[in-house]
Amino acid sequence: MPSKFKTLVTNLVAAITVIGFAGCGKQETSPTPGASSTSGSQFIIGMCQCNLGEPWRVQMNADLQAAAAKHPELKLICKDAQNDTLQQRAQIEEFVSAKVNLLIVSPKEAQPLTEPVAHAIEAGIPVIVLDRRLMGDKYTCFIGADNQKIGKAAGEWIVKALGGKGNVVELMGLQTSTPGQDRHSGFMAGIAGSEIKIIFSADMKWLEPDARNEMESALARFDKIDLVYAHNDDGAHGAYLAAKAAGREKQVKFVGIDALPQEGVVYIQQGLLDATFQYPTGGAEAIDTAWKILHRETVPKEIVLGTRLFDRSNVAQGGVELK
Ligand code: FRU
Repeated sequence: MPSKFKTLVTNLVAAITVIGFAGCGKQETSPTPGASSTSGSQFIIGMCQCNLGEPWRVQMNADLQAAAAKHPELKLICKDAQNDTLQQRAQIEEFVSAKVNLLIVSPKEAQPLTEPVAHAIEAGIPVIVLDRRLMGDKYTCFIGADNQKIGKAAGEWIVKALGGKGNVVELMGLQTSTPGQDRHSGFMAGIAGSEIKIIFSADMKWLEPDARNEMESALARFDKIDLVYAHNDDGAHGAYLAAKAAGREKQVKFVGIDALPQEGVVYIQQGLLDATFQYPTGGAEAIDTAWKILHRETVPKEIVLGTRLFDRSNVAQGGVELK
């Protein structure tokens, strides 16, 4: 191997190793958190992130890290399950055996992650579930926005934008995760009574490349597509790219969810998407709640985050709050 290339490979491997342990944007040297959890007044928080492949999840970790940095007694250690449920189960178990003081879990899927979280609770470790839900109630606090409400608002926005009728492609988030289920059922409630037809629907699993592939199939099958409703902005962008490659992007409207300031909101400003609904990461709220739990304050079982609508009419004013 040429030496320059070898150095590059060595550096890459080293970088990946560090990210594997830290993942919160800060170098973390202790992979065994429990070892130091009793020293001083330090609390160790283990964070199980299901994936860091999407910008929204990178933002969630950054929000967690920024909030944790305001509390010197909190130490946040993040693990990235790389979109693999089995790996996420194992990572939760690792944190439980290391006896962290508190766990934050943003689960990939509801059913398979329910059991390891219940084990953590049984072991006396409080657990905050962020964004995607689990089954049952064996957790300390759930924090997230109301996906039914967002889906319904998207449906109502679409009915208006299409004048009550039209052909819609729905690109769904992973259907074994609760936001994907709720954004679909909310949407159905939002379009009820209209003449909107869902002519094509597919599970794009929250991933832009999958959304692009599915949209290519939809474009090949249907000459008239009025609008794409994607359960996140990555999906809406993937669909836009497929339509653009087919020279049909001007005939189709694109609606997404997330509205990250550096992603979805920019897509609206650039005229790529027509509407997006903010889905806050809850990172700051999770740290605030963790701090309260660790200081023995009572916290609600559920914290519901707000949302905003961004479209071309309101993006310049920062969107409007959804009541
Ligand atoms: C990122 C993401 C977001 C979405 C959320 C739902 O993985 O797909 O785009 O809003 O997860 O859980």
